[in-house]
This record gives sequence, structure tokens and C-alpha cells, in this order.
Amino acid sequence: MHEISTLGHARSIPPLLAGFTRKAVAWVEHALDLTKIMSTPQKLAHITTFGCQMNKADSERMAGSLQKLGYGWTDDPEQANLIIYNTCSIRDGAEHKVYSHLGRQAKRKHKDPTLTLVLAGCVAQQEGESLMRRIPELDLVMGPQYANRLEELLERVADGEQVVATEQIEIPEDITKPRRDSDISAWVNIIYGCNERCTYCIVPYTRGIEQSRQPEAILQEIQELGKQGYVEVTLLGQNIDAYGRDIDTNLSQLLRLIHDVPGIQRIRFATSHPRYFTEELIRTCAELPKICEHFHIPFQSGDNQILSRMARGYSHQRYREMIAKIRQYVPDASVTADAIVGFPGETEEQFQNTLQLMEDLIFDLVNTAAYSPRPGTPAAIWEGQLDEDTKSDRLQRINRVVTDSAFKASQRYLGRTEEILVEADNPKNPDQVVGRTRTNRLVFTDGDIHQLRGKFIAVLITEARAFSLTGKSV
Ligand code: SAH
Ligand code: SF4
Ligand code: F3S
Repeated sequence: MHEISTLGHARSIPPLLAGFTRKAVAWVEHALDLTKIMSTPQKLAHITTFGCQMNKADSERMAGSLQKLGYGWTDDPEQANLIIYNTCSIRDGAEHKVYSHLGRQAKRKHKDPTLTLVLAGCVAQQEGESLMRRIPELDLVMGPQYANRLEELLERVADGEQVVATEQIEIPEDITKPRRDSDISAWVNIIYGCNERCTYCIVPYTRGIEQSRQPEAILQEIQELGKQGYVEVTLLGQNIDAYGRDIDTNLSQLLRLIHDVPGIQRIRFATSHPRYFTEELIRTCAELPKICEHFHIPFQSGDNQILSRMARGYSHQRYREMIAKIRQYVPDASVTADAIVGFPGETEEQFQNTLQLMEDLIFDLVNTAAYSPRPGTPAAIWEGQLDEDTKSDRLQRINRVVTDSAFKASQRYLGRTEEILVEADNPKNPDQVVGRTRTNRLVFTDGDIHQLRGKFIAVLITEARAFSLTGKSV
């Protein structure tokens, strides 16, 4: 007789079933099977994500694969049966963060050998096999190019293999369904990798060569998102404006193709590289109403000698002209950027040129970093490495300019009515909600998150701080 186990009790099918038709018995057996599945404690997965938006998007895809495999979710790694650390190696500090997390879980694995430990992302790609030697408790070390092949890699782990997946591959079209963190706004990868060789940067070594996704596949993904109720998409790429070079199209054409997808009301893209940023792209953005007026275009330095030694492929004059063009076509655009201070050999005067560029252009936000030598990159072994004190002194000084510029840029919103997309409540004040303007500025306003989440509302701006605004909904 058919026996099943529910919550640890053995039970048999009641004799009363004996007289039932075959079909009914099959149905009851099926239902009992379901009880069996449901009563096995569900395995739990946890992912900690470090680094950039690309990593966040990869984590959502890996989470999608785990969900498909039947995993439930936990925010606490200690409760998890499978843990993925999705890592970043852009700077030394970012890289070291992960080792302390890993060490702890490696110890836990000695007590619970069924724990599956995965190291993904850029540190995984950079260190590869040597990580397995350093931390033998790891089951899987996988580079970013494998984010949508997690299922097959875990199958090999289940067969008892210790897997290192870091070889360059052609990234297959995404068949995984991401488990997205937001149900309002979604990331959509459009180009993987980077073909530049900035002399300070590890990314080309961790993310591999440029690979653009086919426009039709991207369109399909966005149509699906529109049907699911998403209202905003952010297209992602290391150098998003290099999109299409390998498949004979470009970002402007893609923006036109996806623009009219029903449901989607805001389209964003990041990160742009000054070298590929064209007037055609600016005009496209100015013309298409759903493209948000926000451009993230790192300049890295305002000094031509440094730019040349960084191998960035543009001068500060060219960068300035580009920003002027943006402001000509899209007068209200917000412009954000990244900058590095303390590059090897950077003199005080060269650093001043960076500050000057920022004072002239008044950015809405600049992400700044002190130069961090990365293994295997050319600049890491150059002479003229600056000491930590000089680097941190420059970092503090540039950050003051960042705040001053952002404050100035914020003032233009005072007295204006802005459309914001409400995303969450204000964690410090539950009577307030927070959303973003089209230009990506954070705005706080009174309201009930349960009524407003995912809605577009008009807000009259009454207060302008450097990095956020406050207003009244009208
Ligand atoms: N592809 C983008 C940037 C991606 S990396 C571009 O070229 O603009 C994100 C940022 O990390 C960079 O813009 C840079 O400012 C910073 N970064 C990269 N390597 C770094 C290093 N070795 N030290 C400090 N900051 C670094
Ligand atoms: Fe790094 Fe340069 Fe590529 Fe940006 S363009 S990811 S800074 S190598
Ligand atoms: Fe970090 Fe890799 Fe992104 S190094 S910044 S996670 S591309």
C-alpha cells in the first residue's frame, strides 16, 4: 500500500479508497504527493551582493534560478542551506570585505557539511582556482559571465564536484527568470563586458569582452516587464553607449525600438563612457518622452595628462563640450559622474584641474574614490604611487566640492512641481514616502506608502538639500 510521511508521521491510504475508480485514486495519490513535497522543510538560500548595479542584476538572475530549483529565501545567512556571495573587486577594500564573511561560513560548514557555499562575481573571476585552494570549503567559484548558468553548475556540485567556472564564454541569451527585488523598477542588461583598457581598472579582466544582447531579446524582456506591471526600466552596461558595436546597431536605435512598450513609463540607462557618447544619442533622449533626463558619464579626471595615462581616450575639453551639448538639447538634465583621485603621479596641480572641472560643470552627484592599485592592471606597478595620506586628503577635498555642487544643483528645483515615482516609505519617518524625479533626485513627501507605492505623484518642492529634496504633493 501507498505510504507517505507527513510531518514525520507514517500514514497509510485509508481502506475506504479501495472502492474508488482508478482516476480518483490517481488524483488522491497526486494530492498526497503534493502534501509530501510541501511538508519537506524547504531549503533556504541567501545572497549577499557587493558592488555595482551589474552585480545586483546578476544576483536577481541567480535568485531566479534558485527559486526555480525550489529554494525559499532568507535574509540571514546563518539560516541558509545555500549561500552566494556575489563579489566586487573594483577596489582593495571591496575585495577584502568578502573574505571575513566567507571565513565565518566556511567554519559553519564544518558543523553542517550540507551547506552549499558559492563565491560569484568579480573577485571569483579574478582569483579563480586559487580561491578554492585558499578556502577549500567553497563548492563553487563562478565568474560574472556564468550568472545565468547557475542551475547547471549546481547540478555538478550536487554530483560531488568542486566547480570553478571562470573561463571566457559566449553569454547565452537569458532564459532564467530573475527574482527581482522591486516590482516597480527593473534592471535590464543590454551589454556585458568591457573592451576598454583603462590602466587602473580590473573590470575588463573580470567581466570579459563586450557582448551586446540582441535587440529583439531585450524588447521581449521589457514587454514582459510591462505586462507584469513594472513602470520603470534601467538598461545596464559597463559602457552602455558602446551597445551594438558588435552586432551592427546602437543605443539610439535600441531606445527607439523599446520606447513604446505599453506600461513602461520611464526608461533609464547607465553607465555612459565619454568616448562613445554621441550627439545622436543626446538628440534621441531629448526627442523620446519616456527617456529620463539623467546622464551618468564618468570623467575620472579633469587633467589631460592623467586622462591620457588612464587611457580614457578623451580630453577634458571634449568632455566639457559633451556636457554643454547635453545642456543645449536637454536643459534640465541632471549629470552625474565618477572620479578617481590620487592616480599614480597625480600632482597637486593636476588634482586641482579635476576640482576646476567640477566647479565649472556643477554635477548633480559625483561618486569619488581614491585610486586603489588592482592586481594585473598596468598602473598598479607604475612609479609615483601616492601615499595613503595624500590620497585621503584629496578625497576629502573633492568630496567637499561634490557636496557644494550637488547643493547648488538642487536649488533649481525649489518652487517647481516635479513628478515622482514613489518607491518606499522614509525609514526615518513612516508618515513620509520617498520617490525619484525623472532626473533621479530623491524626494520626500507626506503620504501613506500603502496607497502610493508604485504611483506617480506631483510634488511641489519646498526644501532642497545637497542629495535630496522635500515637498508637498499637489
Ligand atoms: N565603465 C565605467 C566605470 C565602471 S567602474 C566607466 O568607464 O566610466 C566604476 C568606477 O569605479 C569607475 O568609474 C571608477 O571611478 C572607479 N574605479 C575603477 N577602478 C578603480 C581603481 N582602481 N581605484 C579607484 N577607483 C576605481
Ligand atoms: Fe573600467 Fe575603463 Fe572599462 Fe570603465 S571603461 S569598466 S573604467 S576599463
Ligand atoms: Fe565591482 Fe565587478 Fe561591478 S568589480 S563595480 S562588481 S563590475
